[in-house]
Amino acid sequence: MRFDILTLFPEIINAYINESIIKRALQNNLIEINVINIRDFTLLKNGQVDDTPYGGGAGMVLMCEPVVRAIESVKKEDSKVYLLTPQGKTFNDKLASTIINETKHLILVCGHYEGFDERIKNFVDGEISIGDYVLTGGELPALVIIDAISRFIPGVIAEESFKEESFKDNLLDYPVYTKPRDFRGYQVPDVLLSGNHQKINEYRNNEKLRITKEKRPDLLDK
Ligand code: ADE
Repeated sequence: MRFDILTLFPEIINAYINESIIKRALQNNLIEINVINIRDFTLLKNGQVDDTPYGGGAGMVLMCEPVVRAIESVKKEDSKVYLLTPQGKTFNDKLASTIINETKHLILVCGHYEGFDERIKNFVDGEISIGDYVLTGGELPALVIIDAISRFIPGVIAEESFKEESFKDNLLDYPVYTKPRDFRGYQVPDVLLSGNHQKINEYRNNEKLRITKEKRPDLLDK
């Protein structure tokens, strides 16, 4: 899977992808991430990429020319291009798995300031939001999406973790514990120390159901 991230702040993306699991996925060629600075595509002399909105109003608007030229510099026939905006389709595990099944090349365009010139929408496949709140830019959403999608790619995380994690079968994950057995009077459940794998599996399945009922009963209705 290849991701192209179009942004005015490449350092934000680079800082995240050069650490931990995503860094390892890059090193193992399981994913490819290309970071592109939208400012490199302006035709204006002073590097300008935004301007005041027609009709007045607060803030600055990202201009068509640099954004569309940046998209065109990486877009191929099989690419999918999404703007990151609070108005987009809400990103979740289901959308992540749809994207991974249907897309080999994902182009994510990070907004900043007041938003994109509306006409940019004619050059993309859609908009994605990561939730009902407004962020100062699209960089965090882009990283959330890269991270969540990468976890679906075989080899990025251990297969065992992937099989058992939250939202599989619409259930939350079971609780986990590590050493010591007693932390300030709080004990690890006995069953986890029993060595009886059938009992441990039963306990974990029951816990998944109990925790989902308690914390996210809406998931059980799906
Ligand atoms: N840009 C600003 N807020 C956003 C959000 N919630 N999701 C995606 N992109 C955004």
